[in-house]
Amino acid sequence: MNQDLLKQAVAKAALAYVPEGEIIGVGTGSTANFFIDGLAGMRDRIKGAVASSEASAKRLEAQGIRLFDLNEVDSLSVYVDGADEVDASFAMIKGGGAALTREKIVASVAKRFVCIADGSKKVAVLGRFPLPVEVIPLARASVARQLEALGGRPVWREGVVTDNGNVILDVHGLEITDPVGLETTINHIVGVVTNGLFARRPADVLLLGTPEGVVTTVR
Ligand code: A5P
Repeated sequence: MNQDLLKQAVAKAALAYVPEGEIIGVGTGSTANFFIDGLAGMRDRIKGAVASSEASAKRLEAQGIRLFDLNEVDSLSVYVDGADEVDASFAMIKGGGAALTREKIVASVAKRFVCIADGSKKVAVLGRFPLPVEVIPLARASVARQLEALGGRPVWREGVVTDNGNVILDVHGLEITDPVGLETTINHIVGVVTNGLFARRPADVLLLGTPEGVVTTVR
């Protein structure tokens, strides 16, 4: 079974977590795209969606799903999104698609985070996937020096500008044994908008696509 079929399977399984008549939070990336396509089939049964990126907003709109600004809603019952890596505590690395900041904001107001990923994303220790850090452009070099001091090898994702007008440093070579601590430490570097560790707000439900079927685990 190829990776796309696994992503499609988890995206379909996530539809069962969508409450009728409500506004839901929607993530970004190839797995989230499959979810958006599936959500189109129930567009008349939901009120609408808050998107975590311009790309997802466009796709939701194209599917006829009403968009809401996060400032218009008090809370979301569910946020559905993919991940680049997820560990046993449901902490994740996200941001491969450069949407980490909006993803973290939308996820922060959701009561439940449903993570949808193919089985290759499950890891024992986070860090093989380079950790994305969104940085104010002026601070790119100074933040990079501080990330080096933390033991990482930051690489500027040249040519990429986030939806918020910032740049991304991908930090290679980290073995993240304390995801909560590292998330906090990096977020305290002046010039960092946020980093792609979702450890202080991990997933609540993990739907993992495997050749044997979708494996569901709840934190
Ligand atoms: C987007 O910025 C990311 O956080 C994605 O959620 C993550 O990269 C997973 O993407 P795929 O579903 O494309 O693997």
